[in-house]
Amino acid sequence: MPEHRRPRPPLLARSAFAAAATALAVLFGAALAQEQQPADLFGSMPEPPTEAPPPAPVIDPASPAAGALQPPAEAFNGLPPDGRGKPDWVRALREGLIQPRAGVGSSGAMQLLDHDVLMKNTAQMPYVRFSHGVHTQWLACANCHDALFVPRAGANPTNMTRIFQGESCGTCHGTVAFTAMFTCERCHSVPQPGQKPWW
Ligand code: HEC
Ligand code: HEC
Ligand code: HEC
Repeated sequence: MPEHRRPRPPLLARSAFAAAATALAVLFGAALAQEQQPADLFGSMPEPPTEAPPPAPVIDPASPAAGALQPPAEAFNGLPPDGRGKPDWVRALREGLIQPRAGVGSSGAMQLLDHDVLMKNTAQMPYVRFSHGVHTQWLACANCHDALFVPRAGANPTNMTRIFQGESCGTCHGTVAFTAMFTCERCHSVPQPGQKPWW
């Protein structure tokens, strides 16, 4: 089998390249020295934690009911996961795996509302579909209206900064419902006109 070798560049070209590289290195070094880079660029920033704090336990170990409650790992086992591997409660609800109650020990029915609001203030991201159908299966109107949201489409513009800070949708998303940090597609689910599906 014939051997294929890349032709070696002529000696002159190689030494010219080496000279150019040395010149560049010298120039770059001079530029760095001139800029007087501080030894530690982030000197004024606090040290990042070396270890993430352990997550808060789902069940407060100090609670007298701690022993009687079902361990979370056992309770979540068998629930469908979302893109992040956490339980997808809405799918669990749709698949009939869970049946939320209207209240503790209550047999009353939830007040359901089947009405979607499309939230379009999403820059280049797909629009957000806010579904009353999903939310009112386990939340009363008063959880959101009127303190958190005025009940009028478009009257509560928000953004991710507020949501990540725990305001607006972030009052629940990131605390009691899936966090906005990882599964963007669950909220930004409606492609803008002419936009290819993102997910
Ligand atoms: C819990 C639902 C939710 C999740 C999850 C979510 N968003 Fe949003 N996002 C919203 C809402 C609501 C708005 C504002 C819509 C409006 O006011 O019309 C928004 C607006 C935005 C905007 C435009 C406004 C701004 O803040 O710049 C961007 C960009 C955006 N989202 C990116 C993301 C990205 C990236 C992710 C995933 C890391 C994400 N979002 C996850 C609900 C969500
Ligand atoms: C989880 C929070 C939440 C719950 C619970 C909730 N809503 Fe809403 N509601 C919203 C949001 C968010 C909007 C849209 C706000 C926007 O577009 O700025 C809205 C909008 C509305 C609107 C205006 C719709 C339109 O098209 O203009 C009405 C009416 C309404 N809600 C009634 C209700 C009723 C009745 C209930 C209970 C059966 C309820 N909502 C439960 C969050 C909620
Ligand atoms: C009062 C609490 C509360 C507020 C406020 C709230 N949500 Fe939710 N949301 C929930 C709960 C609880 C669930 C179901 C649990 C879960 O999926 O983690 C849910 C589920 C969802 C889902 C999943 C739907 C699906 O089909 O999988 C979306 C999308 C969503 N919320 C968007 C929003 C947006 C957008 C806002 C703000 C306009 C918002 N939510 C405000 C509590 C809330």
